[in-house]
Amino acid sequence: MNHTVLSVLRAAEGWLGQHDVDAPRRSAELLLGKVLGLDRLQLYMQHDRPMTEQERDAMRALTLRRGKHEPVAHLLGEWAFRGLDLEVSREVLIPRPETEDLVDIALQAMPQGARVVDLGTGSGAIAIAIASARPDVSVVAVDVSAHALAIATSNVNRHGLGPRVALRQGSWWQGCAGEAPFDVLVSNPPYVDPAQPEFLAADVREFEPPLALFSPPGDPAFCYRAIIAGVSEHLVSGGLVVMETGAGADAAALAVLRASESLRDVELRKDLAGADRYLVARRA
Ligand SMILES: C[S@@+](CC[C@H](N)C(=O)[O-])C[C@H]1O[C@@H](n2cnc3c(N)ncnc32)[C@H](O)[C@@H]1O
Repeated sequence: MNHTVLSVLRAAEGWLGQHDVDAPRRSAELLLGKVLGLDRLQLYMQHDRPMTEQERDAMRALTLRRGKHEPVAHLLGEWAFRGLDLEVSREVLIPRPETEDLVDIALQAMPQGARVVDLGTGSGAIAIAIASARPDVSVVAVDVSAHALAIATSNVNRHGLGPRVALRQGSWWQGCAGEAPFDVLVSNPPYVDPAQPEFLAADVREFEPPLALFSPPGDPAFCYRAIIAGVSEHLVSGGLVVMETGAGADAAALAVLRASESLRDVELRKDLAGADRYLVARRA
């Protein structure tokens, strides 16, 4: 039998669909694109191209892993965030589309020449997107995980942002010791209560790093308290705060920000899907 790009795509799509994988066609296209080194359009233009046994073996191996719900981003080893390709691994959160809008909110209100701090940078997604969009801005990006910082370093170098994105290891503000106060704080901290795992899809729970996902049990606002406690010392007066939150944590996180005497103009904004997602405030 003659195996072509189209027949292999159809077989993978059908098999993934039977294994309850979301968007099976898209997964099949991305995985075959990786095997053949082609983008989606090129795949489409080469539907009749014959596939070698070696190529089919490579596709079969990736399809099997996807069928066990391993995220496509992990199988590809990279993921796009605001049009920037970023290396990802099991050590970092896969950057989410909602977080792209957090970057937009921060960029819209960012003063010229701002000094920005990104607490819990993971892959470096937020810091890199901000520094790429705004050549006048510098960012200090902090994470407690050395593994995450290794990935973030590779991403910062990949996008040539080394001089303007400084990576530091430490727990929240401890990573900024000795830094002058910042103009902007951005953060997407862990907020899923491990006592309420229903807020996470099974593949997220199984494949993404617990350190990036979970608060201490029963306290989804824990990281917000830790971060907001340092705002008076580390942000300039009138400085901008933009943080991400989500289901199960939004109300508790909002209460933390509202209770802080260091903050004013606290708002909780919705994402495109209508979920409460972005906490926006000013240093009093
Ligand atoms: C939800 S992930 C966000 C990653 C990335 N900023 C993004 O939006 O894609 C949270 C990040 O916070 C980091 N983190 C967890 N506890 C921390 C702490 N105490 N201090 C600094 N970073 C921490 C995790 O390692 C993880 O990279």
